[in-house]
Amino acid sequence: MLDTDASDRHPFLQGLSKHRGAPPTVIVIFGASGDLTSRKLIPALYNLGLDNLLPRDFHLIGYGRKPIPDEDFRNDSEAALKEFSRRPLSDELWKHLRPNISYHAGGYDDLKAFESLREKLLAIEKEVGRDVQFLFYISTPPSVFKPILENLGASGLAKHGEESDLASKVIIEKPFGRDLATAQELNTIITNEFDEKQVYRIDHYLGKETVQDLMVLRFANSIFEPLWNRNYVECVQITVAENLGVGTRGGYYDQSGATRDMLQNHTMQLLALTAMEPPVSLSAEDIRDEKVKLLKAIQPMKTGPDGDVVRAQYGEGLIDGERVPAYMQEKDIPATSCTETFAALRMSIDNWRWQGVPFYLRSGKRLARRVSEIAIQFKQASGSLFSDPARFDLASNTLVIQIQPDEGVTLLMNSKIPGLETRTQPVKMHFRYATTFGSNTPEAYERLILDAMVGDSTLFIRGDETETSWKLYTPILDHWAECGRKGLDSYTSGSWGPLAADRLLWEGKHEWR
Ligand code: NDP
Ligand code: BG6
Repeated sequence: MLDTDASDRHPFLQGLSKHRGAPPTVIVIFGASGDLTSRKLIPALYNLGLDNLLPRDFHLIGYGRKPIPDEDFRNDSEAALKEFSRRPLSDELWKHLRPNISYHAGGYDDLKAFESLREKLLAIEKEVGRDVQFLFYISTPPSVFKPILENLGASGLAKHGEESDLASKVIIEKPFGRDLATAQELNTIITNEFDEKQVYRIDHYLGKETVQDLMVLRFANSIFEPLWNRNYVECVQITVAENLGVGTRGGYYDQSGATRDMLQNHTMQLLALTAMEPPVSLSAEDIRDEKVKLLKAIQPMKTGPDGDVVRAQYGEGLIDGERVPAYMQEKDIPATSCTETFAALRMSIDNWRWQGVPFYLRSGKRLARRVSEIAIQFKQASGSLFSDPARFDLASNTLVIQIQPDEGVTLLMNSKIPGLETRTQPVKMHFRYATTFGSNTPEAYERLILDAMVGDSTLFIRGDETETSWKLYTPILDHWAECGRKGLDSYTSGSWGPLAADRLLWEGKHEWR
């Protein structure tokens, strides 16, 4: 049933958009029976509805190989909302959204199924009575990205709406290739069917509030930017740590590993936003140009025993007091696996701002705790006023941008300990998002889907950005593939990774925070 009569609409669906108007939209999710759809995408769409941010005429079509009756897909969506939505299900809104949800069964390589999908979409457009944008969300494993993109082209769906300014859009989930060659190949397939401005490559880290705040912190506060360079910064550390293991995703993860899964994409986005030059405007292209310029200035990393890269796999250990198995004992991990579950890197950025400042990046599973943060460590204060270590406990000033959990910013500085003698101690100044703004902030996917609907690609990855990043990582991954298990370190689950990752910092006389 198509719900297009405005008179009986829930207020959430009338007119809509407090801030920005999205045109009438049908979202088609490929791979809609999967994990991401139920955990993130359906809840994100629903929460946009709660915030009056869905267009007045909004439809969702799930697409997948297995036939699923519309009613079953609606029930599954409802169950997903009950389990995963950050806000409870409101009967009033759901009553209006539910009839506009349906399912279309078909193979990803079946052109006929895409043609009948097109008929369905055109019927919705006819019923709405004006131009509707079609937004295709590819949420499948990468093995079927190619046939989906090709069939969107062959069925005419990719070109729909070109003449009306409501051209179709495509959102693509990571991974964008597994090395430089496959990323280039994927970009060619995408741009054979779509214009780059129709393409939205998702990195959900860019949708996180704290990541978006990085630009505000850097460029809207006059105290930081003058210090944000090699004259004042000693080193930068970026940590994206998880205490979870691979769980049920062993099959996927073993083909990927920490470097492909996290470092090449999420962690590099954090690095790019931390280190790029100020863009000339907040437009998508100006920001993405600066990110690419920064990535191009990163020097190739050395592999080998005294190189800039470390990889390791988790052994068994304790997480929150519970014994957990080693990676090699996890479900779907082959006995020959040489996949890293942890990687640490030392990078140099060869530009005016960062010459000589080491950037250390690390990411891994089954580490001591879940934390993603960027730490800017400043140089020690000069002079010898407080040089007696017996009296003066001093730390380097460090600005820590805590991406998650407990989102916020902390400044580590030195203070006099109250008392009649002059003694010092490092202290922390905290800003916490939850305290200032409350804790129920939008999920990353809400912001990103909304941006795609309204055509803002600032928080999405451009084709050249992903290729520039792969250029850095491909030689490392090739080298590790040649070495197999040789040189693959291990670490105890619940620790901070192997000792080799600490050694990376010793040359610069640094330590992980
Ligand atoms: P799933 O493995 O759950 O797959 C999604 C759907 O794709 C499945 O329900 C299935 O639908 C179809 N599918 C699965 N395997 C194949 C196959 N070999 N060939 C063809 N179709 C297949 O994936 P997720 O939902 O976890 O992830 C989707 C995408 O999002 C992936 O690219 C993933 O890398 C990315 N991603 C996922 C995250 C997550 O937390 N899950 C986080 C970040 C990114 P059907 O059988 O009905 O056709
Ligand atoms: C995904 C990775 O991209 O990001 C997962 O595939 C990882 O392995 C996840 O667990 C982490 O995301 P978040 O938002 O929980 O930090």
